[in-house]
Amino acid sequence: MKIPETVAMIGAGLMGHALALVHALGGCRVRAQDSDPAARERAPVLIDAALATLTESGAVDAAEAEAAAGRVEVVTDIAGAVRDADLVVEAVTENRDIKRDVFAEIDATAKADAIIASNTSHLDVFPLVPKNRQGRSLIAHWYTPPYIVDLVDLAPGPETAPEVMETMRVLYAGCGKHPIVFERFISGYVANRLQAAMNLEIFRLLDEGMATAEDIDGSIRHGLALRLAAGGQLEKLDYTGLEMAQRALANRTYTPPEPAGRSKTLDELVESGRTGVMAGAGFYDYGDTSPAELFRRRDAKLLRLKKALQKTEGG
Ligand SMILES: NC(=O)c1ccc[n+]([C@@H]2O[C@H](COP(=O)([O-])OP(=O)(O)OC[C@H]3O[C@@H](n4cnc5c(N)ncnc54)[C@H](O)[C@@H]3O)[C@@H](O)[C@H]2O)c1
Repeated sequence: MKIPETVAMIGAGLMGHALALVHALGGCRVRAQDSDPAARERAPVLIDAALATLTESGAVDAAEAEAAAGRVEVVTDIAGAVRDADLVVEAVTENRDIKRDVFAEIDATAKADAIIASNTSHLDVFPLVPKNRQGRSLIAHWYTPPYIVDLVDLAPGPETAPEVMETMRVLYAGCGKHPIVFERFISGYVANRLQAAMNLEIFRLLDEGMATAEDIDGSIRHGLALRLAAGGQLEKLDYTGLEMAQRALANRTYTPPEPAGRSKTLDELVESGRTGVMAGAGFYDYGDTSPAELFRRRDAKLLRLKKALQKTEGG
């Protein structure tokens, strides 16, 4: 089994720049490409900012950070990025036509034995991948910011070789990540399905005036999150006792929401321009603090939590 050492990163936006960094920190040489000149200019700046946060928190030492930054090169065209890559990571816009064109361009230049990994959130990308590349293509789906959040979903297509899945599992486990290997593609994987189910309930609580944003986040941060972080949901149920879980299912006192496809609260916020931290407001107000500073604070907080969690392991 040859573990990839040279990576082409196609798409250098929100996820692409961060995934370039993940692979560089794992020791790979990375050529990152984006069709948008602004994204190509922004990527190294964002990578340096992320490395500064990782270094300040002690997650990465200064020499490691410098070496990782030195392993990333930004290039203008797909052919230049993929020409000698062992692994091509696709993180372009979530659009079938764009991804189909990008896979065709990758196919034109990539080595015959290159592995192609898509970071798609929801698409079954396998019908978009050229026939001759099916055996060495998979989905490797990450969670933002992937240089801090270790979960990566690995899903094969109908023809993906088992050896390709194992190579990718070994690569990412070796980078200190936490790969979950699926037997087949399931839309939403596990974590996104759970988030989607939770969001349905959250938007109903808000839309029907049963709870405020502060009530909901307070319940998560001070109740659910601590227990989930310590052992996940199923280990937690073992501690609760499974008869209790059985009774809770049988005695359910309300009906979970049907997916409605929209939320009144969300629509009102978006219509009034409160679209999240990039706009300075969403469910909460962020004042004049810049998005870059908000992301830096979020990353620093995640790193402190991750360090605390790592200390509890084995305990
Ligand atoms: N944002 C997230 O939290 C998240 C999480 C997991 C997976 N994803 C997935 O990652 C992928 C990228 O999402 P993102 O959030 O980084 O989006 P983004 O818009 O920040 O980045 C996409 C980049 O692709 C570039 N691009 C578009 N067409 C291209 C082409 N033909 N050639 C080269 N580059 C091209 C764009 O210029 C842009 O910079 C999507 O498939 C998305 O579903 C996103």
